[in-house]
Amino acid sequence: MIWERLQNMTNKVVAIDGPSASGKSTVARRVADALGWLYVDSGSLYRAVAWKALKDGIDVQSSEALADLSATTAPEFFVCEGAVRFRLDGVVLDRELRAERINRNVSPVAADPTVRARVTQWLHDMLLLGNLVMEGRDIGTAVFPASRHKFYLDASPEERARRRHAEMADVETDMSVGDVHASLNRRDTIDSRRMTAPLSVADDATIVDSTQMDIAGVVEFVVEHVKGVL
Ligand code: CDP
Repeated sequence: MIWERLQNMTNKVVAIDGPSASGKSTVARRVADALGWLYVDSGSLYRAVAWKALKDGIDVQSSEALADLSATTAPEFFVCEGAVRFRLDGVVLDRELRAERINRNVSPVAADPTVRARVTQWLHDMLLLGNLVMEGRDIGTAVFPASRHKFYLDASPEERARRRHAEMADVETDMSVGDVHASLNRRDTIDSRRMTAPLSVADDATIVDSTQMDIAGVVEFVVEHVKGVL
């Protein structure tokens, strides 16, 4: 049903997947700006469900509790400055979603099939808003497998930890690069090993290793590639 509806739509999706701190957010945001398409951070939705679980005192290891939580979680989506954003329980969440307590809880929440089905439905519905540049872990493999524009962004674990540590300076002050490395590694392990839609490279994705590339170079590569296929 949903596929029939999606296949009849002319709006398109650029899927940018990859592990934590591989540069997806910055690249996806800039690619969206360059194309005039809407930027979507799918991870922020999993983070928001984890935020609500912690706020409501829900056990993130209980699939029953997560099923109830999924059914009652209803973000209100809106477009703001070229991105799809949302309000949950009356709050526009932003920096609070990047806190370490969310990092620690988001992967178990995102591994739950009911949560994934719910978030995937929200992501499908966004196609009604326009052309999308969506970053995540399973966008090219599971959410929009028919997309003609799939990228898998990677970088060495050391470089990813260094980038995330620099980025986190104003959120958490007491973590070393080693702590960040361990935190990313913990999440990547759960994300790659889960049963439902694990982090993996789509067969038809273009792999971009950004360890030695600057952001502008990656953005230019992706935009040129997308324009070449349009
Ligand atoms: O910014 P970073 O790459 O560290 O993470 P994120 O994109 O904000 O995603 C946070 C978490 O949400 C990931 O570690 C995954 O557990 C989950 N996620 C997912 O399962 N599927 C997606 N499409 C996006 C995120």
